[in-house]
Amino acid sequence: VITRADCLDRDRGDRLAPLRELFDLEAVDREGLIYLDGNSLGVLPRKTTERLRQVISEEWGAGLIRSWNTPRPGSGQAAGWITLSQTIAGKIARLINVNAREVVVADSTSINLFKVLNAAIAIQQDTGRTRIVSERTNFPTDLYIADSAAKAHGFELVLVDDRELAASIDNSVAILLLTHVNYRTGRRHSMGELTHAARAAGAIMVWDLCHSAGAMPVDLAGADFAVGCGYKYLNGGPGAPAFVWVHPRHLARMDRDRWRQPLSGWLGHAAPFAFTPEYEPAAGIDRFICGTPPVLSLSALECGVDTVLAADAHGGLNAIREKSIALTDLFIELVESRCGDQELSLVTPRQAEQRGSQVSFVHPTSGYPIMQALIARGVIGDFRAPDILRFGFTPLYTRFVDVWDAVDRLTQVLGQGEWRDPKFSERAAVT
Ligand SMILES: Cc1ncc(COP(=O)(O)O)c(C=O)c1O
Repeated sequence: VITRADCLDRDRGDRLAPLRELFDLEAVDREGLIYLDGNSLGVLPRKTTERLRQVISEEWGAGLIRSWNTPRPGSGQAAGWITLSQTIAGKIARLINVNAREVVVADSTSINLFKVLNAAIAIQQDTGRTRIVSERTNFPTDLYIADSAAKAHGFELVLVDDRELAASIDNSVAILLLTHVNYRTGRRHSMGELTHAARAAGAIMVWDLCHSAGAMPVDLAGADFAVGCGYKYLNGGPGAPAFVWVHPRHLARMDRDRWRQPLSGWLGHAAPFAFTPEYEPAAGIDRFICGTPPVLSLSALECGVDTVLAADAHGGLNAIREKSIALTDLFIELVESRCGDQELSLVTPRQAEQRGSQVSFVHPTSGYPIMQALIARGVIGDFRAPDILRFGFTPLYTRFVDVWDAVDRLTQVLGQGEWRDPKFSERAAVT
């Protein structure tokens, strides 16, 4: 049996442990909370509060409009706000193992997906292929956006089950749109194999990295496009801007064809401050920018991304992945050994390589009230209809002892039937 003392021991031996200090967890620790929802909203980095204060009072308050151009103090950078998006893109590029000039930070994942799918459709337009294939359990925004993009161009969205995925990749597929780690089950696709299969079939491979960027190394070799969000494992804050990656072979072709993305806003123009009435796309990845960058949100995102980059000195993304596997393994083992008599069943793969940084259990009737009762006991996970209890493990700030304590409280909620109190069945707007 694993004891709490064993978990404390593992924390003492954890090379990522010093990184917890980068986060503002004082209120969480004071209240005795255990936060297992970094796969939905990352924790506030300590630096963010001071950085936003500085941006608001010094750069906006005192600098006013001059701050678009003035260098950031001590940054050594040629300009301030106007290149902030590119600065952060360069940092995110390191986390997803691509070149800086292949990424932009802008808008939301949904919007970026719309741009990317339109680019992919343009590439496949004359091939006679019209099928955009995705997974039935992909995150709904991906499916809704894909459906809109498909309908606008005479393409169709075809949904398949996970089991049928490999068999469905044939030379009728125009675009394969997949999320690396499934938001419900935490199942992780084999990125390399699926990308290879898509390419071999002549399909364009689009990856959604929302549940992987910052949580594990990703290998986009051979892929065509990727999008991802800033507010989960990148700790950028609620509604943080998202990112887009485009393979340079497509960027070169877009330059050649003078391709414009459908959201052809002025800051994606080749010369925004020429104020010409005609749109001329910027070269390369910058054409994926639309309007004015949200400077406050970007400033917070940069602090979040920096917390992940800080892991470089402690083993980087490989160490993050290693600890993520250890935390999720421990959670599965403890829940199954201590709550085995309850009706919880694991829907996340047992094999670590097939799993992201979250663990999900299904409860056949009462997932929602169980999660609410657990939150009332200070363990914050979340619920995904109709029956999934989700627990996210962010290795930068989650300790082994947190896993032990969380399961301990889960045993109390279940064993004493606390969740049966009717107040836990009242649905909030966000679950
Ligand atoms: C896989 C995936 N894609 C997209 C989104 C959300 O996109 P947006 O930031 O545009 O709301 C989420 C949100 O949880 C997600 O899990």
